[in-house]
Parts: sequence; structure tokens; C-alpha cells
Amino acid sequence: MSTQPAQAARPTVDFDHHFVAGGVDPEVAYGELRKKCPVAWSENHGGYWIVSTYDLVSEVFHDHQSFSTARNPKTPELTNLAIPPQPFQLQIPEELDPPDFLPFRRLLNGILSLQKVRAGALSERARYWVDWHIDQVIEKGECDLVYDLASPVIGAVVLEWLGFPSSDWLRISESFHDAVGYAPDSERAQRAFQEIATFQARRVSEEVALRFELLENGTPKDDAMGYLASQVVAGEPMTPELVEAMVRLLIAGGVDTTASGSTSALVHLHHHPEHRATLIETPDLWDTAVDEFLRRYPPVLGHGRTVKQEVELGGQTLCPGERVLVSEASACWDEGEFEGADEVRLDRFPNRHVAFGLGIHRCPGMHLARYVFRDLVSGVLDRMPDYAVDESRAFRNANQAGMAGWASVHATFTPGQRKISGPDELTYADIPTRVSEAGDA
Ligand code: HEM
Repeated sequence: MSTQPAQAARPTVDFDHHFVAGGVDPEVAYGELRKKCPVAWSENHGGYWIVSTYDLVSEVFHDHQSFSTARNPKTPELTNLAIPPQPFQLQIPEELDPPDFLPFRRLLNGILSLQKVRAGALSERARYWVDWHIDQVIEKGECDLVYDLASPVIGAVVLEWLGFPSSDWLRISESFHDAVGYAPDSERAQRAFQEIATFQARRVSEEVALRFELLENGTPKDDAMGYLASQVVAGEPMTPELVEAMVRLLIAGGVDTTASGSTSALVHLHHHPEHRATLIETPDLWDTAVDEFLRRYPPVLGHGRTVKQEVELGGQTLCPGERVLVSEASACWDEGEFEGADEVRLDRFPNRHVAFGLGIHRCPGMHLARYVFRDLVSGVLDRMPDYAVDESRAFRNANQAGMAGWASVHATFTPGQRKISGPDELTYADIPTRVSEAGDA
């Protein structure tokens, strides 16, 4: 036990992970922390620790006895995954600690395993939605890589798999993107927060209620929501509230993360034609390239944890109840773990990156994310090989703490031909007016 009050030894730094666009560069800020103070204390947001090196990030993520993801019972409406805690409806299993966590996590491992993604319809649907979205822009010779491709593609894949009708897809994928693309106090981000809150509360519960109804009538729906509704966890049948909490997490975890990663890769390939040529000539390199892009451009900069029991970390004493920001991105950029960390090495192997987290909460959607990422970026290289980003119309996310990456990226290319023909083309025809357009009208 520490004989000194932990407060006395706290290495306090001037740091705020809510990087304002045009202000401090997250890579520079985390680089300084890794060098000078890998377990640092910031007085911002009520005070929190920041953990930045690969080894220490790994230590925290693997120590779920000392570091919790659960909510504070005194503020059950706030998620502790953010610093400061944010109002957000409960997400299961991420906000559970073991042992409650495990049976729910097993369900996700089952439906998102590599085998399920590879052998099942998911990988085919990913390819289909990539082709379909490229078709929508290919004849025009210009598009927004985020709003026309990366964001709606992953939205279609995840929301179709869950079982939402297509009229919901674009609305929700764009809202999740606007929420990080624009400054939190902007009108557009505020509208997106509202849209997400309404969707997560109303549409999710309507669709989940329908799954339970169909299950009761003996006509269960064959989609991920239907599957979750039919399960028994720890001897108890699933309830609508539990399924809703899992569905909310699958949407929030899956949608804009994958969009961010693939857009960053496309921007990188604009700046590095030599990498573009290499990937076109040697497609086998995709096996390692996807993970290297995610390591170099990790979508998630950090997650919050709460100290459960006093613990020593990197020479500091962390006390129960204290908040900790664990930076996946900083671990990915750690020169001590990755030689040439600031470069993209398409054939980097092994590549034990942390973009998908580590430990018990490591991303169960990573296999699906890798498929969609690869299909999308390789689809663009295949069908728009000469695309060029208009750098005067490429903007970074304003809310980098929410998600790293690009708010909007305009690109031009030599027009090409559509690929998909036949009735399936109509699947996505009932897309509503975009949220952004509806709001601007
Ligand atoms: C490139 C894309 C993605 C990235 C970078 C990413 C990143 C992450 C990270 C860092 C975590 C760990 C969170 C923590 O430790 O608190 C996580 C968890 C999670 N992700 Fe992903 N994710 C991606 C795609 C997806 C997809 C496509 C899905 C599902 C459709 C998904 C579903 C989840 C879920 C359900 C969790 C919580 C797991 C748990 O608590 O056990 N993610 N993700």
C-alpha cells in the first residue's frame, strides 16, 4: 500500500484529449506524453490519468480487476467510456465487468467470428454494398469519399445484418458521422446527437419489440436482432432491454469506426501513389496492409476506464474511483513497439496493433471491419484507380476525441461504368432524404 497520498506524486500535464480542429495535433501531444510521462495526470474534466505507451495501455486493458468499464450507480444515465462521462443509453457488454460481461460477449463472438463473416452472407453483402455505392458515383467522376462511400457502405452492411429496413441506414450512418465530423456545439452536430438519441431509443426498441413478437408467434426473424432475442443468457431468456443495449452498441461500435479507418487509408493512398501502385500490382499485400493502415491511422484515440481498486501503474498510484483515459492510438504510434511507427509499411508483420483494443473488450467486429475496409479501399483502387483528393475540400473531424479521421473528403476520378444490374439495385431505393439535407431545407 502507498504510504504517501497519491496526489503528492501526481505528474500533472497540460493536456486535453478533446483535440479541437486546427489546435493541438493528437500525434504530437501523445508523442510528448509517451516520452516524458507515460502515466500522466490532467486536471481537466474533473481530473483524469492518461496512459499512452504500448506496454502500459496493454497492462490496463488486460487488468479488468483494477479497471472497470461500468457506470457509476450514482449517475446511471452517463457512460464512463467517455471522459467526462456522457449521457448515452447503456451499451452491453462493453459497460459490464466480469462475470456479468462474459455470457453476453460470447454471443457476439459467435455471430461475428471470422468464420461467420467469411463463410456467411456478411462478406458477400459487404462486397455488394461496396459495388452498389461505387455505382452511384462512378459515372459522375466525383464524390465525397466519406458521405458517398465509406460512411453509407458500413451503415448498409451493419444495419442490414442487424435487420433494420433500408430507410434507416443512411440516416443513422450519417448522424454518427456528423456527430464527430462537426464541432460538438455546431448546429449539425447537435442535430446528429438528437437523431442518434431518438434512433437509439425509439427505432431500436420498435425493431427489438418486433423480434420478440415474431419469436412468440413462432415466426422468428432470421437476422442478428432476431438471433439475439432468441437467446438464453446465464439461464435466463433475453429481455427486450438487454437486446436493445446490445444492438445500440453494435451500431455505435461498428458504423463510423470502419468509415474513419477506410477514409484515412484512401487519403493516405492519395498522398502516396507508390503505395497505391504496389497494392494494385500485389493484391496479396492486403492481408497485412489493412492492419497497418489501422495501426497508422487508428479510428479510436482513447477509451475511458474507472479505477476499481488501488493499483500501481508505471510508477504511479491510481486510486479507486479515479478516471483513466487509455489511448489505443498512442499505443499504435509507440516507436518502442513499432519500428518506423510514423510510416506505413504495407507488409508489416507481425503487427500487434491496438486499434481494436486489447483484453476482454477487444473489438468483436474486427473481422467484419477488416472485410469492409479491404473491399471498400480495394474497390476504389480497382474502379477509380486515378482518384485524386481535392485537398482544399478535405476536412478532418472536428471532434477527434470522438473519432479520428476525416469529416469530408472530396475526390475526382475518370468516370467509369456501373457494375450491378438487376432487381437487387432496388434494395436501397427507399433511402429517405439525407438528415443533413432535410435539416438544411
Ligand atoms: C475499423 C473498425 C473498428 C474499430 C477501429 C473498432 C475499435 C474498437 C475498440 C478499440 C474497441 C474496444 C473498446 C474498449 O476497450 O472499451 C471496440 C469494441 C467493440 N466493437 Fe469495435 N471497432 C471497429 C469496428 C466494429 C464493428 C464493425 C463492430 C460490429 C458490427 C464493432 C463492434 C464492437 C463492439 C460490440 C465492441 C464492445 C466489445 C466488448 O465490450 O466486449 N466494432 N471496437
